[in-house]
Amino acid sequence: MKTIKIGILGCGIVGSGVARILIEKQALLESRIGARLNLKYVADLDTTTDRGVAFGEGVFITDANTVLNDPDIDIVVETIGGKGIAKQFMLKALENGKHVVTANKALLASFGNLLVKTAMEHQVDIGFEASTGGCMPVIKTLRESLVGNRIEGITGILNGTCNYILTKMSNESCSFDKALAEAQALGFAEADPFLDVEGFDSAHKLAILNALAYGMDINLDDIHVEGITKITPMDIEFAKEFGYTIKLLAISKNSATEVEARVHPAMIPNRNPLSHVEGSMNAVTIDGDATGQTMLYGHGAGMMPTASAVISDIADIARNIMTGARHRVPILGCPQTNIRPIPVLPLS
Ligand code: HSE
Repeated sequence: MKTIKIGILGCGIVGSGVARILIEKQALLESRIGARLNLKYVADLDTTTDRGVAFGEGVFITDANTVLNDPDIDIVVETIGGKGIAKQFMLKALENGKHVVTANKALLASFGNLLVKTAMEHQVDIGFEASTGGCMPVIKTLRESLVGNRIEGITGILNGTCNYILTKMSNESCSFDKALAEAQALGFAEADPFLDVEGFDSAHKLAILNALAYGMDINLDDIHVEGITKITPMDIEFAKEFGYTIKLLAISKNSATEVEARVHPAMIPNRNPLSHVEGSMNAVTIDGDATGQTMLYGHGAGMMPTASAVISDIADIARNIMTGARHRVPILGCPQTNIRPIPVLPLS
């Protein structure tokens, strides 16, 4: 049986979860993929803190270059996050002919076009299911299931931290700060939670979805972004009184010539299923011309849901390596469509 060798860069919350699944579910994955997935390295500057994972001898190392330069490594999993060293490492991995799997939406939203171009030049794949919606398979749905559709619009709750905070404020009259602290303790929030609560994490994810849905370059700058920091308990109470729930939404609409894209809090009528998406759950509706509306729902953040999405990309790439299939060409980079941000009125 063929062995596919994997190296993980960054052993934080998501990286540890990926390592755990690869080690603890090795037999299950082998039976489903038809190849052995071997976790050869996990590289992190801190190799002393216990991650609750039983790494084999010589697996847990500090030097990322050992992973990037090892000709045996087929797939590099980037779970460092951020736009600094992660970018350098991902480019190096692609240039060295390695497939890359990442959950790094901030990096993809800013440098996705460069990363995709580099992957195509070197005939390798980039998997990024975990970048958007946690374990909710929204990337695969756009890329595969809905490939025969003209996508007309996307509406989603794409940030688990904000949804957790808004749910806590609404259901338990919890303060914003306490709810945020809990979301951080549960491992939902970004290292810099400003990205969550000011709406930028949702915008990163929307930029990725727009690129897949509408065949356009990833374009972050033209998305109108407003977060949840101005939402008061009184806003939430008033909304409730009138039969609405406040959620942070990421919305894009595809007209004949333009895409409108925005992230902002919105009052959702309680008859709309999105109003019932609570805690760190995410949900998205996608309107296709053939399918009508498709809705996905799942854990949008947290260690194991995100790790599960990373594993799904590893499995896809491993299957492609097994069958000798050509790398998947991401549907990006046809910039005939312009993006037009629409100003919206703030809630308060
Ligand atoms: N901080 C992100 C969220 C993590 O809360 O949704 C998952 O992308």
